[in-house]
Amino acid sequence: MAVLPLLHYPDQRLHTVAKPVAQVDDSIRRLIGDMAETMYAAPGIGLAATQVDVHKRVIVVDVSEHGDNLQVFINPVLVSKDGQCEREEGCLSVPGIYDKVTRAEHIVVEALDRQGQRFTLAADGLLATCIQHEMDHLEGRVFVEYLSQLKQTRIKTRLRKRARETL
Ligand code: NI
Repeated sequence: MAVLPLLHYPDQRLHTVAKPVAQVDDSIRRLIGDMAETMYAAPGIGLAATQVDVHKRVIVVDVSEHGDNLQVFINPVLVSKDGQCEREEGCLSVPGIYDKVTRAEHIVVEALDRQGQRFTLAADGLLATCIQHEMDHLEGRVFVEYLSQLKQTRIKTRLRKRARETL
């Protein structure tokens, strides 16, 4: 397994729409292993393949207290959503930026697991927020796009400045 380099907003590649995984094979399992290692190393609680510049519909999530409950979703689909909740979000692709986003409070997601088996999961709270955040990445959407234009402009300026400083 390997820690993969992350794309940072406003990199245009973060706006790529990911393609469905046709077959869950060893190359996909290797990608999942690398994504998990990258997420834990950061550390973060979720990662979409988009963020490591692989445009396939794969996300990994671990919202457990001790980081010992990896959840993998391949070709995830939201089959239902209900309620609303506002939660402060951050993103490994938008380092140092946190802001409130309103999302569905309860969701039901259908996906494939590492063995290619279909499963359905009902989620709420932080897990529901995290899954929706990561699924947005697969659509090429970054959480800051829910914020006002003014905030987005400020965030872009700040991150571009920081990128120049770290060159
Ligand atoms: Ni993110």
